[in-house]
Formats: sequence, C-alpha cells, structure tokens
Amino acid sequence: RMVIKNVCCIGAGYVGGPTCSVIAWKCPDIRVHVVDKSEVRIKQWNSDKLPIYEPGLDEVVKECRGRNLFFSNDIDEAVREADLIFISVNTPSKTYGIGKGRAADLKHIELCARKIAEVAEGHKIVVEKSTVPVRAAESISHILSANTKPGVSYQVLSNPEFLAEGTAIENLVNPDRVLIGGEESAEGEVAVGELTWIYHHWVPQHKIITLSTWSSELSKLASNAFLAQRVSSINAISALCEATGADVSQVAYAVGKDSRIGSKFLQASVGFGGSCFQKDLLNLVYIAECLNLHEVAMYWQQVTDMNEYQRTRFAKRIIGCLFNTVTDKTLAVFGFAFKKNTGDTRESPAIFVCSHLLEEGARLNIYDPKVEKQQIESDLTSARVTSEPERIENLIHIYTDPYQAVTDAHAIVILTEWDEFKTYDYKKMLSVMKKPAFLFDGRKILDHESLINLGFHTETIGKRFTRNTLLRSSGGDL
Ligand code: NAD
Ligand code: UDX
Repeated sequence: RMVIKNVCCIGAGYVGGPTCSVIAWKCPDIRVHVVDKSEVRIKQWNSDKLPIYEPGLDEVVKECRGRNLFFSNDIDEAVREADLIFISVNTPSKTYGIGKGRAADLKHIELCARKIAEVAEGHKIVVEKSTVPVRAAESISHILSANTKPGVSYQVLSNPEFLAEGTAIENLVNPDRVLIGGEESAEGEVAVGELTWIYHHWVPQHKIITLSTWSSELSKLASNAFLAQRVSSINAISALCEATGADVSQVAYAVGKDSRIGSKFLQASVGFGGSCFQKDLLNLVYIAECLNLHEVAMYWQQVTDMNEYQRTRFAKRIIGCLFNTVTDKTLAVFGFAFKKNTGDTRESPAIFVCSHLLEEGARLNIYDPKVEKQQIESDLTSARVTSEPERIENLIHIYTDPYQAVTDAHAIVILTEWDEFKTYDYKKMLSVMKKPAFLFDGRKILDHESLINLGFHTETIGKRFTRNTLLRSSGGDL
C-alpha cells in the first residue's frame, strides 16, 4: 500500500476549496494543493478575502495555508506531484446541443481527465468529487487508459460531496456519511483503502460506506432528488393551506413528528434554489429518459415543476395583493442569496421572483448582507431572464442599508431567511413606507402577528391572515 503524501484538487470552487481546506486541517501529514484555471479565484484564495463566504472557513484556511495547504494555477505541477487527485470542477446543465438545459455538461471533467493523462507520472488515484451522471467514472477511466504511458497507472473512484452551503465546514467535519465507490477488483479495493485512510483522520469507520462506483454516483443524484422532493412536497401542501385556511407550519410540524418521515427539510418556502437541486434533478430526468424510463423521468420532473410553480405563485400573489399592479411601485427586497449564510445566488428563487416583478415594471430596492452588488445586477440582467437588460438596470437599486431600502417603498419582500431580518425595527421601517404598507414573507421567518399589529398588511407562504382584510379596509395606515 502506498502512503499518500500529496493530494491535489482540480477546481477551487464551493466544493474543492472547503473540502480540501478541511482535509489539510485534519491531516497535517498530507500536503494539499488546490488548483484552478481561474487566476482570479486563486488570487482570492491566497488573499484575506476568500472567494466564498462560509462560516468557519477563514479560520481553517488561515491555520493551514502555507503550511500544508496551497492554492495555485500550476495544474501540471500539482497533478504530477499528487498521489491522489480530486476532480471538483463544475458540472452545470448543458446550455447547448443534445440534452440542452437538462443533461450534465461534462466538458470540464473530460478536460481534467485529459490533463491528468497528459502530465501524470507513476500511479495515481483519480477521485470524482464533482456530481456526475451514472457511469461518468467509466468515461474518465476510458480516457486515462487510452492515453496511458509506460510506468503510469490509474484507479478511478467516486466520492461525491454532500456538504450544503452555509454549513460546509460543519458538514465536512461531521458528515452523516462518506461514500467511496470503486472498481470491484483487487486494485480497486486498494484505492478505496487509500481514500478511506484519508477520511479516517477524522471520520469514524461506521460512517464510511464503500460501494460500487455506479451506486455511488447514483446515490448522490438520488439524495439530492429526495431532498428537493421534500421541499416541493411541503410547498405543494402550502398552496393547499393558503386555499383552505390551514397553516403549513402546523401541518409540517405534525407530519414531521412521524419518526418515519422526520422533521428536516419540511420548511415551506418561496422555492428551493442553489446550484445543485435543479441541475441534478434534471440530470436524473434526462438519464431516465435516455434509458426509456418515461414514467421515472416524469415523476422527478414534477419536483422541479412544483418549484417553478411555487416561485411564480408567490410573485403573482405579491402583485395580486398590491391591487393587481406593481408598475412604478417600489418594493424593498430583503435577501438575494439562495439561502442564508452564503453569498451564492446560483438558481436563487430571488432571481425568478425579482424578474417576474421587474417584468411587471416594479422598481426593486434590493438588500442582501452577503451578495455583491455586481452579482445581483448580472443575475437580473442576464440573457436567461430578460431580453431588455437596460430597462432592468434602471429598475433595480442595490442597498447596503435595509432601512434606506424601505424608504418610500410600497412593500417589503423577504426572499432569503437571513437571521438579521428578524432583528429589524419594523415599526421604524413602517413609518417611512408608503401606506398601506405590505410585507411578504417568502421564508416564514418573521413574527407575523406583531407585524399585523404594527399595521403591516402581511402575507406569507402557506397561511392566510384574516385580520389583514380589516386593516386593508381601514387603509392599513396605523
Ligand atoms: P464551482 O463553479 O464553484 O467551482 C468549480 C471550479 O472549477 C471553478 O473555479 C472553475 O474555474 C474550475 N475549473 C473548471 N474547469 C477546470 C479545469 N479544466 N481546470 C481547472 N479548473 C477548472 O463549482 P462547485 O459548486 O464547487 O461544484 C463543483 C462540483 O461539486 C459540481 O459537480 C457540483 O455539482 C458538485 N457539488 C456542489 C455542491 C455545492 O454546494 N456547491 C455540493 C455538492 C456537490
Ligand atoms: C444541497 C444538499 O443539501 C447538499 O447535500 C448537496 O451536497 C448540495 O445541494 P445546498 O443547495 O447547499 O445543498 O443547500 P440546501 O440546504 O440543501 O438548500 C437548498 C435549497 O432548498 C435552498 O434554497 C433552501 O432555502 C431550500 N430549502 C431547504 C427549503 O426551501 N426548505 C427546506 O426545508 C430546506
């Protein structure tokens, strides 16, 4: 058995960066080299302001960087020196050609495999960390073996990542499980043993699951599909609650108390976002379709259709409550990230809800504690959501102070569940807003009764407030 001294990770993103920082932190005997083709990203990893915000990440990087954790653009050198190489590059949905909008785009993965084949010397364990369609490891193996040189050999493993953004360090330090999929051969078992050895530095044996490469790849897609399905299930119930007078929080609590169902991931919301759920679901749908499993494809397709319905439903409800027009009205938007404790906006429901409101001519004053101004502007003016970027630019204003964002606004719209939103002085906010003042809580985080008492017309997901009607007829101006 070889002793792993050098680990390399290709891709310094949300997964590669935190994962390898934790490996370096927990394994002082291993030298970890994280590489990326982006010079900007690497510069940021080597600076005081890291390219991603994750609670606890700064401390880990500060302790390890320059000791046994290195960030650089020198991909060739890192690959050559490494005993084990993680591939953590992005695998977005394809934006072109066959499977457009659904199939995973594996071009970055393939480039990594070719790069490894080009520069590797000796024996290398290549670990697929990115989320990929079933049998992607086979393609990597194929490229590697077709380009092999004398004295060079490979083993390819699947080791999907389950971290959630905003809690990445916590999830990496204390994972529910670690999956290691390998080839069912003596060499495969040795390679699985090497990677297991790395995790053993901090993860107990009973949490490390060894399985076949394909099961490992599919388990990742299946896990995300199940999680997304729970959110869509409770969101579907939330629509029923709004129509019937039931309260989705009470229903979720009651349902979640069944130990077979469990209470997690039953928080009704304006919809799920993030870089993974949508793309992994669509990938699963596409795989099922390609295998002629039409019913399976349709089943999982519904999970993303329900998400789309939820976002649109919320935007329409805002417009409906604002007397059926938001044209030239100012709406203060609190939160743009796809969830709290991250600056990531990929597939954020905020993009879709904001776009819908902008389409109707609303002016949006947007505030998010972590998302950069430029990011919000580029998300809302991208070709994907609008054909009129100049018009949209004039309608959005990004604020760094929530109290300024609400001045003269007709409504507050909450789209991310940041804790700080719970601590604001809403009485003060109400006093500078247009009346009747509306508040739409797309994340169910505020105390709605007290907002109604203050004089806000309040709406939230999965619940109707009958007292609002009285306020509206009295002008809501308390
Ligand atoms: P990301 O876009 O943040 O990072 C990917 C990085 O890879 C980028 O910095 C890019 O420049 C780099 N890259 C791409 N091609 C390269 C190449 N040929 N050579 C060198 N560098 C290259 O993506 P991410 O969010 O870290 O996701 C990576 C993978 O992990 C995806 O497959 C994703 O599905 C999966 N995943 C993501 C999460 C998450 O929470 N973001 C969680 C679990 C799994
Ligand atoms: C997800 C998976 O949880 C993680 O295991 C995988 O590795 C990557 O994809 P992430 O997208 O970072 O992680 O965040 P997650 O906490 O799963 O939330 C996804 C979206 O669902 C967010 O927009 C969140 O706000 C929403 N959500 C989650 C709900 O609306 N309700 C819930 O009950 C839970």
